[in-house]
Amino acid sequence: MTLPLEPIPSGSLPLAVRAPGKCILFGEHSVVLGGPEVVAAIDLFVQVGIRPRPAGPGPVPETNPYVREALARWWRDGTPLDLAVVSRVPKAAGLGSSAALCAGLVAGLGAAQGGLTRAELAARAFAVERGAQGVGSPGDTAASVAGGLVALNVDAGEELWSVAHGEQRWTVRRVPDPGWSWVVAHSGIPHDTASTVRAVGRRLAAPDGPALLERFRRVALDGLAAVGKEDPEATGRLLDENQRLLREVGVSHPKLEALLEAVRPAVYGAKLTGAGAGGSIVALPRPGRELEAQRRLARAGGQASVVRVETRGVCLVDRPTTVERAGSLPGDDPDDGAVR
Ligand code: MEV
Repeated sequence: MTLPLEPIPSGSLPLAVRAPGKCILFGEHSVVLGGPEVVAAIDLFVQVGIRPRPAGPGPVPETNPYVREALARWWRDGTPLDLAVVSRVPKAAGLGSSAALCAGLVAGLGAAQGGLTRAELAARAFAVERGAQGVGSPGDTAASVAGGLVALNVDAGEELWSVAHGEQRWTVRRVPDPGWSWVVAHSGIPHDTASTVRAVGRRLAAPDGPALLERFRRVALDGLAAVGKEDPEATGRLLDENQRLLREVGVSHPKLEALLEAVRPAVYGAKLTGAGAGGSIVALPRPGRELEAQRRLARAGGQASVVRVETRGVCLVDRPTTVERAGSLPGDDPDDGAVR
C-alpha cells in the first residue's frame, strides 16, 4: 500500500528527518540520458537532526559538499546550524546514502522555513545532489522523497512530478509495489558515482551507443511490466539481462560478479544496483530463501541485508535527544564522488 504524498509540514528547530535509501531495480546509467528506470525506496534509513548552533566559538566552515550545497541553496536566513546524521545506509555503496542525506537535509531546512510540497522537495534535493556530484539523474532523490516504487521516463502510472536540469527533463511516476522482499549486499568496495557515470556516458557516446541505450530501454520497460504483473520469474530473468548490459558498458567488478554467482541458487535473478564499479548488488530471492541468499552473500564477503520496499518517503520524526554529528557522511571522503 502506498501512503498519500503529503507535503513536508512547517516545523521549528530542533527537528529531525528520516529519509529512506534506495535500490535501483532497472535502468541505472541510461536514466541519466533520459532512459526509463525503476527505483525502490528501501527500509534502510538516514536520519538528519538539525538544531541552531549554540553560541560558542565561531562557525567551522562546512566541508561536506552535499551539506555545503544544501545550506547555500536552501538555508535562507543563514543562522549557523548543528547537524547530526545517523545512517544505516552504507556510504558510496549504490544504496542511496547521498540521495537520502540530500532529501532529509533539504526536507528539514524546508520544514524550518514554513514547509514545502513533495514536488518542491524532489526538485531541491536533486539540485543539491546534482550540484555536489556534477552529474546524475533525479532517480535516487525521487525514491527517497516519494517512498515506495517509482519509475522515471515511462508512460504508465500516476505522474508525481517532473524535474529538469538544463535541456534534460525526467518524469517521475508512482508504480505499484508487489510487496516482495529483496536482498542487497555491499561488496565493500566504495565507488565513485560521478566518474562511473562519466565513463558510461563516454561509452554510450560511441557509434553503438544508441543500440545499447535501446537495449537498456527495453529491459527496463520489460522489467517494469514484469513487476507490474507480479511475475518474479520474469523479473529475475530481466534483472540478469540488465546485469549483462551493465557488464557490457564496463561497470561490473569481479567482487560484484562473485556475489552474483554466490547468490544465484537462492534467487530468481540479480544485478548490480546503482553506479557499479564496486558498490552493491540486488537480488530477488525465491520464496522462503531470503536468509539463505543473505548467508550465501555473507560467505562470499558481502555485507548483506534483506530489505523491503519502504512505503513512506522522507518524513519528520520526533525530536532527537542527541544532535552530535555521527561518523562520516557521504561526500566526506574524496572517493565518495562529489565535486569538491
Ligand atoms: C546512481 O545511483 C544511479 C546512476 O544512474 C546515476 C544517476 O542516476 O544519478 C548511475
